[in-house]
Amino acid sequence: MAYPTDRPAIWFVTGTSRGLGLDLVRQLLERGDAVTATTRSGERLLAALGDGVDTSRLLPLTVDLRDEEQVAAAVRKTTERFGGLDAVVNNAGYGYLAAVEETGDRDVRDMLDVQVVGVWNVLRAALPVLRAQRSGHIVNVSSVLGLTAVPGWALYCAGKFALEGLSEALAAEVADFGVDVTIVEPGYFRTDFLTRDFLALPENTTAHYPAIRGMVAQHLELQGKQLGDPVKGAAAVIDRVVTGEGPLRQLLGSDSHAYATAKVRALQDNLDAVAATAPATDHPAAV
Ligand SMILES: NC(=O)c1ccc[n+]([C@@H]2O[C@H](COP(=O)([O-])OP(=O)(O)OC[C@H]3O[C@@H](n4cnc5c(N)ncnc54)[C@H](OP(=O)(O)O)[C@@H]3O)[C@@H](O)[C@H]2O)c1
Repeated sequence: MAYPTDRPAIWFVTGTSRGLGLDLVRQLLERGDAVTATTRSGERLLAALGDGVDTSRLLPLTVDLRDEEQVAAAVRKTTERFGGLDAVVNNAGYGYLAAVEETGDRDVRDMLDVQVVGVWNVLRAALPVLRAQRSGHIVNVSSVLGLTAVPGWALYCAGKFALEGLSEALAAEVADFGVDVTIVEPGYFRTDFLTRDFLALPENTTAHYPAIRGMVAQHLELQGKQLGDPVKGAAAVIDRVVTGEGPLRQLLGSDSHAYATAKVRALQDNLDAVAATAPATDHPAAV
């Protein structure tokens, strides 16, 4: 995509009242770009931005991302207010820590509603605009846990792995329209993600997973000590879109890079181990 240099770029960012999304909105406004910032609470977003930020190019919208109509209206309002759309950042998301058998049906649906259905609603609304103009950049904020899975994070990983699959297919589908897709994979970042208020937990636990209870305690303890700086994370996302240069996946953080590298090695070992047995299910080759 050719990032606009003759006018402020127009961004659409989800999940903006805290963390990475809030830092993104702040830095985009400081650059002089125009931003639609969706949130579940416009009031909370404006309070978090504070007085020192020029909000003349901000369109804060209270949107339930699970509601296709609300999302479509938000994209429509963006093009009406700013005259176009250049970059979309699907950022909204939350963590959930429990064993698979402790994870309730409602918990599964809620997570997938935000991380898959919500993203899909945004894409369905934004893609016709980007496709018609033959330019644009979609950033889907996944996680290193969209590449590798660990005990206790099954539901979160299920959501992020789904987002990765969707994004990888999307990137290939829209490349010919001049639309870029970037998957962002942060490691641990110092946002509100791991706080007691925002890390989701199951309604009922069992006594069979003491290691996972230990992990919950450890993660809550980690709050405030995570390696990743969300100000730098937001800047990296902006840089990726502005330069238009880089591969499909942008890992953020040395922890993320190390976990992903270990996953790739394990996957390669697995592929090597079945190299002889996998072809056994083929039909005989046609002569
Ligand atoms: N921090 C990390 O360690 C880390 C690591 C890997 C990936 N990530 C990913 O990075 C993204 C940003 O997270 P963050 O670290 O900035 O966390 P955060 O400080 O908790 O912020 C999360 C944002 O997502 C939105 N959100 C949370 N739960 C939601 C729900 N149920 N429905 C709709 N929106 C919801 C919130 O938006 P509103 O309240 O404004 O609606 C909030 O602004 C997420 O996708 C997360 O999965 C974070």
